[in-house]
Amino acid sequence: MANRRLAPAAEQPESFAFSPENATWAKGQIEKYPEGRKASAVIPLLWKAQEQNGGWLPQKAIEAVADELGMPHIRVLEVATFYTMFALEPVGRFWIQLCGTVPCDSCGARELKDYLQKRLGPAGHVSADGNFSWLEVECLGACCNAPMAQINQDYYEDLTPELLGTLMDDLAAGRTVKVGSQIGRVSSEPKDAVNTLTDPTLFDGSRVGAWRKRFEEKEAEESTGEAESSEQRAATDPKPARPDAGRAVGTAAMDTPAQRSAAGQTPVTSTDKAQAADGTDSTAQPNPPVEKAAAETIAEGEAAGAEAGKQSALPRSEPPPQPAASGASEGEVAAEAEVARIEGKLAALPKDASPEQKADAVGTRPAGLDAARAGQPDALTRIKGIGPGNEARLHGLGIYHFDQVAAWTRDEVAWVGTYLAFPGRIDREGWVAQAAALSGQPKLVSR
Ligand code: FES
Repeated sequence: MANRRLAPAAEQPESFAFSPENATWAKGQIEKYPEGRKASAVIPLLWKAQEQNGGWLPQKAIEAVADELGMPHIRVLEVATFYTMFALEPVGRFWIQLCGTVPCDSCGARELKDYLQKRLGPAGHVSADGNFSWLEVECLGACCNAPMAQINQDYYEDLTPELLGTLMDDLAAGRTVKVGSQIGRVSSEPKDAVNTLTDPTLFDGSRVGAWRKRFEEKEAEESTGEAESSEQRAATDPKPARPDAGRAVGTAAMDTPAQRSAAGQTPVTSTDKAQAADGTDSTAQPNPPVEKAAAETIAEGEAAGAEAGKQSALPRSEPPPQPAASGASEGEVAAEAEVARIEGKLAALPKDASPEQKADAVGTRPAGLDAARAGQPDALTRIKGIGPGNEARLHGLGIYHFDQVAAWTRDEVAWVGTYLAFPGRIDREGWVAQAAALSGQPKLVSR
């Protein structure tokens, strides 16, 4: 773990003050808390100060936040030096936070650290080309896909020194990179063969089906209306928990990348990507036999109850909607599909294609303005995912206002995402919806 010290005096600016827009934003944050509890806003204010200062926190910014919140300087310094999300020294264009906690360490983080030492020098220093700086940090919560690193705002997982090196080369060259697992697994599914919960009766419905049938028979008996009060029943015959307990039963064994990998097949296929693109569940099997067996078991129990005229009086609640089998959210699946589509198109371009050429190959450039209306641009950094750097690049495209971002079409999102070298991220972070909310317009539907 690195020491957390302020940058040397020579690198510290002489002053810091929030821009008028950020000052208004800070005021809004403070107002969220009751009188006398202003200090609760310390983290968001430090974060905004760091963002305004190009990605790191100078001493003057820490003091300005303390003054704003009426806190002693030392208290805010304690916060800033505790959390590694606050950079205390200037950072490179890509700030690498390498997790060095035990799960990542035992999966190879030490080799990654050696690699970064060798390529960039000691932690906390910006590389000569200004592209990179790095820091070892504690667990970032992606241990399932260890070892991992956060680079700017994205996570890169399942890293090896070779993969990290390629990733850094691609970032430096402005090439498209894939966030998340670098070996193709989806979310945090098993990396290799499945070694736990392998008893097939857990999944083929037989174990749960038998239990459920017994439960339903008991329910049917109770619905005949014996006079026994619920209190008496509870005392003498505690009711078993519902077998589904709010979950789906008879879950089919899934065709996961891990299983394919164990069988010596390619974990993620082009069919997965194509299905993700059209919204199909890539792991769903057409009427898989185990699922059918489970459904039949359940149906048998229901039919028996109905036949005897003893249909349960209790409402049968539907199982709650389940997430996609891959565990990815809708936004993540859409973003993955977008990345796959764009990667396909970019593969046909020469390696030295400019960001504009790449963007033109995948989408349509959104119309820009010559200047902000009335000389007053909106603070695009209020859109989560847009920092000062990207705000400046958007200004370079003539994008100054929330309503411009809110009006982007799918093709325009693809163009901007590729131009900024992070296709899929605009979808994942919901820039368009955020901008619509900020501009006071209703949420726009994808076109
Ligand atoms: S230990 Fe590295 S992310 Fe948790």
